[in-house]
Amino acid sequence: MLIREPITMNTLTLRNRIVKAPCDTAGAVDGAPDEKMAEHYRQRSRGTGLVIVEHEWILPEGMAHAKQLSMGDDRLIDAYRVLTDAVHDEGAAVFAQLSHAGARSRDSGLDAIAPSAETVWSQCHPRAMDDEDIDRVINGFVQAAVRAKEAGFDGIQIHSAHGYLLNQFYSPLTNRRSDAYTGSTMEGRTKLHCDILRAVREAVGDSYPVAIRFGACDFMDGGSAIDEIPQAAKAFEDAGADLIDISGGLSGFIIPGRTEPGYFKDLSMAAGSAVSVPVVLTGGVTTGEQLEQLLEEGAADLIGIGRALLSDPDWSVKALETVS
Ligand SMILES: Cc1cc2nc3c(=O)[nH]c(=O)nc-3n(C[C@H](O)[C@H](O)[C@H](O)COP(=O)(O)O)c2cc1C
Repeated sequence: MLIREPITMNTLTLRNRIVKAPCDTAGAVDGAPDEKMAEHYRQRSRGTGLVIVEHEWILPEGMAHAKQLSMGDDRLIDAYRVLTDAVHDEGAAVFAQLSHAGARSRDSGLDAIAPSAETVWSQCHPRAMDDEDIDRVINGFVQAAVRAKEAGFDGIQIHSAHGYLLNQFYSPLTNRRSDAYTGSTMEGRTKLHCDILRAVREAVGDSYPVAIRFGACDFMDGGSAIDEIPQAAKAFEDAGADLIDISGGLSGFIIPGRTEPGYFKDLSMAAGSAVSVPVVLTGGVTTGEQLEQLLEEGAADLIGIGRALLSDPDWSVKALETVS
């Protein structure tokens, strides 16, 4: 059974193919995880291969909401150690998910920034980023990655999905720039991601796993498209990504009107056709049999489980039992 097969990315070997997809619990206290949150992750680590912790802001200006976790301060490192120890006690690996919400930032009292002032969200009025903003964001991801490593995370994931800042750079609908980060070429749309991947790699070292959550299609007219995925995924791999975790772009983590297991599988297969690093597919999976079926079809190397693991902390244990 493929579900039980270990898989290696960079120097890290996962015990099986089950990934706990990052799911915001809005339970942070001043950006920090508390004991209750550590326990939430401990419970969902039983039987799971890799736990990706919910998004953490890297700079205050990139906060998605006031109860979001932060990786923006060295003083948080000790609190994260309690959480990473809890996951490790249950035998799973754990990644931090580093994020900047860009145009969709709120609650910090600071101006929202974005690739361009134009957005698809009528309630957002961001300022277009200048060179200084770009340098600050790259450095913010680097500092956050170093903190996550220090806090015992086995790797980090850079969030570029669901309409947050890096996704705003990838989407031609929200990136109207005409400089090196232009939304009119694939090189420009992926440049900030690649700059960040290389800078993070330099800081954390060659053997530390670095993943990217790639919102690979907007499912909107004029937005990012499925046939562009191989080129982008290859650019991320070449810039140092050890794992490509596929989700939606400006559409969020869904495709409107679709709920079948693995609804993003056209996207994950397009990414997998272009890269040799493992690919994760998330969305719509509720049983171990569905997970096994998607692995057997070659839809991805790993399967992410979001809502099913949120509602049942023993989902992974049960899935391993039912698929025999
Ligand atoms: C309550 C909730 C919070 C979420 N928070 C995040 C997040 O912090 N980062 C992220 O990349 N995706 C987030 N997601 C998306 C999930 O990781 C996942 O892609 C989505 O739930 C689809 O998978 P599922 O059908 O297995 O639930 C969230 C989803 C839900 C339902």
